[in-house]
Formats: sequence, C-alpha cells, structure tokens
Amino acid sequence: MSQKPKVIASVTLPPDLRERLAAACDIIEIPMGQRPDEVVSEETRAQITGMVCTMKTKVDAALLAALPALTVSSNFAVGFDNVDVPAATARKVLICNTPRVLDGAVADITIGLMLCLARNLVAGDAFVRSGAWTKGPFPLARDIRGKTLGLLGMGRIGRVVARTAQAFDMKVIYHNRREDPHAQGLATYVARDELFKASDVLSIHIPLAAETRHSVGKRELGLMKNSAYLINTARGPVVDEAALIEALRAGKIAGAGLDVMEQEPLPASSPLCELPNVVLQAHIGSATHETRRAMIELAVANLIDAVTGKQPEAMVNPEVWQGHA
Ligand code: DGY
Repeated sequence: MSQKPKVIASVTLPPDLRERLAAACDIIEIPMGQRPDEVVSEETRAQITGMVCTMKTKVDAALLAALPALTVSSNFAVGFDNVDVPAATARKVLICNTPRVLDGAVADITIGLMLCLARNLVAGDAFVRSGAWTKGPFPLARDIRGKTLGLLGMGRIGRVVARTAQAFDMKVIYHNRREDPHAQGLATYVARDELFKASDVLSIHIPLAAETRHSVGKRELGLMKNSAYLINTARGPVVDEAALIEALRAGKIAGAGLDVMEQEPLPASSPLCELPNVVLQAHIGSATHETRRAMIELAVANLIDAVTGKQPEAMVNPEVWQGHA
C-alpha cells in the first residue's frame, strides 16, 4: 500500500504540476467545485490529508467534518471567503492561498477600469464601430492626471495600484485598519470618511469577511463626489450593489468599474448591464496565462510543502502550523 499522503485535487492541474504533486502524494481528482463529500467514499475521505481547490469549493464545517484527517486545504486564489477559517482553525486544518503572484495582474485591471471610465473607452469603441464618428466628434472625457485616487485597503495589491498610479501623476490616499509603513512615499493615510469624500477615483482592495460585507453602502456612496468613480476588483459583496445601482442611476457618483459583483456569473438581466456609466468585467483580475500559472504553482507548492512537513509560503491561519491553534 502507498505510504504517500492522499490528497484531493478539485482544480484542473497542468500536466507537469500533476506529475509534481503525484511524486509526493496520491491524488484523487474530482471536478472543480464538486464537494468531496458527494463524490468520494467515506472510507477514502477518512484518509485524505490534503486538498487543493478553487473558490468554488465551500470549505465549511460540514466539509471539514466529512474529511476528518484533513490537515491542509490549499486555495487556488488569494481570496479565501469560500473557507470558514475559524472552523478550519478549530479543527487544526491549515488554510493556504496564493498572494503575491497576482498583485500586478489585479492592479492592471484596476488601472484599466479607471482609464475606461475616465476616458469613456468602451463607448468610444462602439462610437467608431457604429459609424457615429462620421456625424460628429466623440464627447470630451476626463483626465486622471492630477486627480486623487483613494484606495480602500492597502495590502499588496493596493501598493502596486498606488505605485502604478504615481506614474499617472495621481495623488494617492488610502484607508486601512491601521497605517501601513510600506505605504510611505506611495500614498497618504486618511480617515475612512475622508477617503470617500476626497477621492476622484475610489478603488476597493479589502477582502470579503463578515465585517466587510456591504461595508461600502448608501452612506459611503453619499459621501463621494458626483464626479467620482468607484472601482471594485476585490469581492462583489463588499459593496451594497442595490445602493450602488441607486447611486449610479441618480448620478450621485459618475460611474463604476466592476470586475466583481454580488452574483457571479452576472446575468444579463442585472440592472448593472443597463447602466451606461458602468464598465463590467467577468472577474478577470488574475485571469492571464502567466498569473494563473503562477497561482496554481503556488497552490500546489503550498499543498506539497504542508503535507510533507515543510512550512508553506502562504498560510492564512499560520497559528495552525505553529501549533498554537
Ligand atoms: C482570487 O485569487 O481571489 C481571485 O479573485 C480569483 O477568485
């Protein structure tokens, strides 16, 4: 009988990474998002010590109970709002994720959305294709140079956005739970309300958690300038979408660039799809060949390291690894 640790892979593995994982572990591959408790026998589940999965797998108390020998679950994402972290920590299950490798890609999409909004690039493309240009010029848009970019959240991604915005001669301000020493020279710390009031573009870079759900709502949107844009590349439910739609309809803010929504995939029937002052993307912040490859490499490395006794690079609840949980 194999002495290798048994792990579940609920993600499409590139052949070379499947080989790397197979050298260290016995892999049970299941379709992406499928709950292991629905497709893996109880006897096998009892031997599973590791798992690599996407955000589509809800790592909740029920799943943790169904995998009693699990010691690590490695998320193929930087976000981990699919995981009940307190429940995992209580069961001494280490949760890993993929920070660092997607910072640039998500920052690029943030800047892209900002340029689309300020320069009206999506409408501009339709204007040319439709032949409307032959009847008159495209309406004037807005500069981003010299404007204030407000970052709600100053983690790794926020810092790359701030650095990039400096190249656009923007003034960058931010609000975080606490001042970030790494932000010095990049952005100025302001109080939360001040961030909403002073920003010409406000971009969200905080994770989704119970305390951040709908934390950008009617009150915050009401503080913003009528000429300001809201950008969300973090998680849809951080914003109260109904309040956002109301603010956009009423012209309380000038527009929104959204890579994430409360419901994903977003149905075409969503009121967001009817609003001309919104630019929408299909949660593609990290969706490039290079970045996704780096993410899956890190997710697999985290899993192999954890099940073979080496400290993984990216741990969400390191207290489990340190034996303090
Ligand atoms: C992440 O890594 O969290 C991306 O948003 C993909 O879900």
